Amino acid sequence: MPVPVPAGPFVPAGTVRVFDTTLRDGEQAPGASLTAAEKLEVARQLVRLNVDVIEAGFPAASPGDWEAVHRIATEVKGVAVAALARCRDGDPQKAIEAIRVAERPHLHVFIATSDIHLKHKLRISRDEALAEAVRWVRYGREQLGRDAEIEFSAEDASRTDPAFLLAIYEAVVGAGATTVNIPDTVGYAIPSEFGALVGRVVDLVGRDATISIHCHNDLGLATANTLAAVQAGARQVEVTINGLGERAGNASLEEVVMALRTRPTQFPELLSRVQTEHITTASRLVSHLTGFAVQPNKAVVGANAFAHESGIHQDGVIKNPLTYEIMTPQSVGLSGSQLTIGKLSGRKGLQKKLRDLGHDVSGDALDVVYREAIALADVKKEVTDADLLALLQQRSGDLPASIVLDGWSVTSSHGGRSTGSARLALDGEGRAGESTGNGPVNALYRAVDEAIRPVLGWEPTLVEYEIKAVTEGEDAQGRVFLRCRRSTDAGPDAIVVTGHGLSTNIIEASLEAYVVAANKLWAAERDRTSLPAPRPSERLP
Ligand code: KIV
Ligand code: ZN
Repeated sequence: MPVPVPAGPFVPAGTVRVFDTTLRDGEQAPGASLTAAEKLEVARQLVRLNVDVIEAGFPAASPGDWEAVHRIATEVKGVAVAALARCRDGDPQKAIEAIRVAERPHLHVFIATSDIHLKHKLRISRDEALAEAVRWVRYGREQLGRDAEIEFSAEDASRTDPAFLLAIYEAVVGAGATTVNIPDTVGYAIPSEFGALVGRVVDLVGRDATISIHCHNDLGLATANTLAAVQAGARQVEVTINGLGERAGNASLEEVVMALRTRPTQFPELLSRVQTEHITTASRLVSHLTGFAVQPNKAVVGANAFAHESGIHQDGVIKNPLTYEIMTPQSVGLSGSQLTIGKLSGRKGLQKKLRDLGHDVSGDALDVVYREAIALADVKKEVTDADLLALLQQRSGDLPASIVLDGWSVTSSHGGRSTGSARLALDGEGRAGESTGNGPVNALYRAVDEAIRPVLGWEPTLVEYEIKAVTEGEDAQGRVFLRCRRSTDAGPDAIVVTGHGLSTNIIEASLEAYVVAANKLWAAERDRTSLPAPRPSERLP
């Protein structure tokens, strides 16, 4: 079959295309697995952010990952949807099947090119790697037609012999690749050196393909390398929210995008299309769903990124924020206002407040948040922005609950053991359990175990548990985050899910989080597609 002629580079002059890989490389961070529903929620937020491409996953990794990519390709509009595939029989077919329905399918095939990977991992020669790369790029082009994006990545490009790297890029562009990506897979590059390498690729194939870069942060240089590459002519940046990703993570979207915006003279006439006002919401959502906290001093999205502590700085900022702020808090979606809702507030006011915070909520969802906010206003003096965001997040990635908590009680005293009881409905059928424990939470978790074990044949095993106050003050809501696996699953391949609970009563929050996790584990058993993807046995770069 003749290879359709590709439509040529897709990035309009003056723009840097933002390729977000939070749902693929970001999700490869150990412990960051997301369910299909959670991935969909992140994808919707990425659309609000106006990224150009969402890399939705690696469909060959598992049926769960295939399903998540396919759902995003089907349901998420206004953005290109990419899927990753190795250059090996089976992978590209699965990826194409998953993204064919997308408005703009973007196939991303890769093969390692450095001698160290070819010799020790793939055990093939350079010629064989080049032939496989050409084969699968051509296949993708034939299958998806002339208008689709076909991207080729040379894994470990920064440690590859440059002569071979250039030869493989030239060959894949000849076979129909419209984007060639230069990954610094192990975060080894130094900005000046990386910029020079990117420049050579731009000179060779930059007229026929978009040059992309993908930097990891092992030496803390991912953002610096990404920006050096843009200055050298790269026009696609592969980034993740909060810099989430394998090992030390990937270049972070918020840092790269805000650098382009804040230093226009360094990037003349170049801008991304990202609506930066949605950055904070995206950062909080990803942190909440993955359970990866953002360090307080993280650039752009850390809690202290716009906080001024010392007297001299405060004085300067009061006189003129430009003294110590190179970007405004509003430009990344931080609103100055704090006090929000009281018992007498109306639904409309709440809806407007949520919109100001970057969330469009209406209909049933608004009713639910409204009821919860009013109930909270009953027990808490002030319901703040942080409280409202916590209420919203608590609902994110929700699955229909098969296990419902109907009631609980616990007694606990100084130094003594605690006794707890829990009443639940499993698929509508009432169950009760009672147990003792070394504290109230432990006693209640065991009581839940007693109630569900006879039906499920397992109970959740706690892998991680964390509790934090949402705001200051003794009446603050407590937010519980935990990770669980099934007691019958052991070893590194066990599916691990997250659970969140939120209440002014921390025991209630703890129970809620446990029941959410139990629901996810049960849903995973019944429907493989709601599973977070298990880690593929051959780990991805
Ligand atoms: O880091 C890497 O090399 C990758 C490629 C698959 C782009 O993630
Ligand atoms: Zn990577």
